[in-house]
Amino acid sequence: MMSHADSLQGTASARSSAHGLARGVLADLRKTPKQLSPTWFYDEYGSQLFDAICELPEYYVTRTELEIMHRHMADIAARLGPHVAVIEYGSGSSMKTRVLLDHLESPAVYMPVDISRMHLLDAAGALARDYPELRIKPVCADFTQPFSLGPLPASAARRVVYFPGSTIGNFETDAARRLLTSIRTLIGGNGCVLIGVDLKKDPSVLQRAYDDAAGVTAEFNLNALRHLNHKLGADFDLSSFEHRAVWSADHDRIEMYLVSLRDQVVHLGNEQIHFARGEQLCTEYSHKYTLESFARLASEAGLVVSHVWTDPQNLFSIQLLERRWLL
Ligand code: AVI
Repeated sequence: MMSHADSLQGTASARSSAHGLARGVLADLRKTPKQLSPTWFYDEYGSQLFDAICELPEYYVTRTELEIMHRHMADIAARLGPHVAVIEYGSGSSMKTRVLLDHLESPAVYMPVDISRMHLLDAAGALARDYPELRIKPVCADFTQPFSLGPLPASAARRVVYFPGSTIGNFETDAARRLLTSIRTLIGGNGCVLIGVDLKKDPSVLQRAYDDAAGVTAEFNLNALRHLNHKLGADFDLSSFEHRAVWSADHDRIEMYLVSLRDQVVHLGNEQIHFARGEQLCTEYSHKYTLESFARLASEAGLVVSHVWTDPQNLFSIQLLERRWLL
């Protein structure tokens, strides 16, 4: 049982981590233009909203990636080979993970990497029930920072980093290059990366995918403010902000904003943040690539695209990357 001292310590450390989070948020809200990390979308309600987005008719991303997997899984599994160590960036709760695991030949170990211990353990627990033979080793870490995987089973033939969902698109170009470079190091000499990459397409299709008719993405975006109110005691009035998604042709990305509907002051701790009417708070970028632009990014990270699978409409791609040997 937790002693009183432990619980006090727990409270103190929760307070100091909330303090650190508040400092980071304030720094982002003081930038011009104002910003907020997309991680604020994802509390429990936000994760449910994201699951609902994945089911939307306009949001082709999840559906198309799954279709590609179903259609090409035998080829994908053959190219990855037997006895691989699968290292998934993310908690691995999705259908996609199961499709992959169902087709791999005797995977040596499955290692989901996620910053949220709760998500990680829930997802790993559910997988352990459905795959009793599979060795599962969850790693609680922020994969954008250096982390250690710990020892791998001696039977592991090669490391495969599995990074589905086009989450790479949510990183700005420099950060995406850094992340891919760190993955290159992690996979070692004979490893590879299986990554979902969303493709550039008609902006009107993208616009609808990120501003759906039912307003689920709008609710998801606004939930970042609800989360801040709940976690850090801010007093954002959600009815005074509006969701906006715009395609930036200059940067090949969807940009999501919350627009202030009036002149207003928001409080966070002892600080005040002023929003002018019409001012935009940037909450997320979702970069879209061509096959050429992603191959260039991969190459800058020391990786080479060895195979690409797409859907008939070229909406989405699953790509296999390997180390580029620098002579
Ligand atoms: C998680 N990520 C890949 C999603 C995307 O499409 O960029 C997040 C999202 N934002 C709005 N809708 C979905």
